[in-house]
Amino acid sequence: MTEIEISYGEMIWDPATYDAQRRRLVPAFDLLYGAVGDLVGQLGVASPAVLDLGAGTGLLSASVLAAVPGARLHLLDGARPMLDRAVARLGGRVDGATVADLTGPLPGGPFDAVVSALAIHHLADDEKKKLFRRIRSVLVPGGLFVNLEQISGPDERASERYEIMHERYAREAGTDDDEWAAALTRMAHDRCSPLADQLAWLRESGFSSVDCSVKVWRFAVYAGWAG
Ligand SMILES: C[S@@+](CC[C@H](N)C(=O)[O-])C[C@H]1O[C@@H](n2cnc3c(N)ncnc32)[C@H](O)[C@@H]1O
Repeated sequence: MTEIEISYGEMIWDPATYDAQRRRLVPAFDLLYGAVGDLVGQLGVASPAVLDLGAGTGLLSASVLAAVPGARLHLLDGARPMLDRAVARLGGRVDGATVADLTGPLPGGPFDAVVSALAIHHLADDEKKKLFRRIRSVLVPGGLFVNLEQISGPDERASERYEIMHERYAREAGTDDDEWAAALTRMAHDRCSPLADQLAWLRESGFSSVDCSVKVWRFAVYAGWAG
């Protein structure tokens, strides 16, 4: 990153360089982000109300719109400059933009879908569980929660394999030493949880048909349906 413009807690992003950097740092970017849009599309609702948690610059919402052009988006993020960029990108498709913490109350909805990418792993496990219950409460019956998440392995050796493969993908995509070092510094603050735990928390929160749709080493798209 050339210049630090955003500081949210311990996490730091520069909205000006964020989007290009994501494509280098998230392997199989189109597969992972596209899967979220595909799942929203499978709801079969022409104009679904969609809440994007930790929306950042709107990369995930843009992917949802590509799959479901009629989607009406409500964005939530703790960093206003990131949200400002998302609103500029998504224009008239944004029904609402809320600057708020993921540990606090959610917009009431109800929503046909709640989506999130690479944001919830900033919360502690207990906060994740509480958030899953709040998400369940703002969904319509049959509504979808889908999360593109950075996970930890089921054990330390698996997590080490994830890191080796993550660096390999990122380097192949053009990440240089400085960019990888900055990514490692940011990731040191992440609070990733194993996939199996997160799927169990979804079931405990009242989600059904809970499933991991796509997994690329430490990146997973998992989903559950309300009721
Ligand atoms: C890595 S970015 C992901 C942004 C976007 N979802 C994407 O896929 O590009 C993480 C985002 O989550 C937001 N975030 C992190 N922790 C948060 C919290 N506790 N409350 C609200 N937003 C948070 C950050 O401000 C940032 O925009």
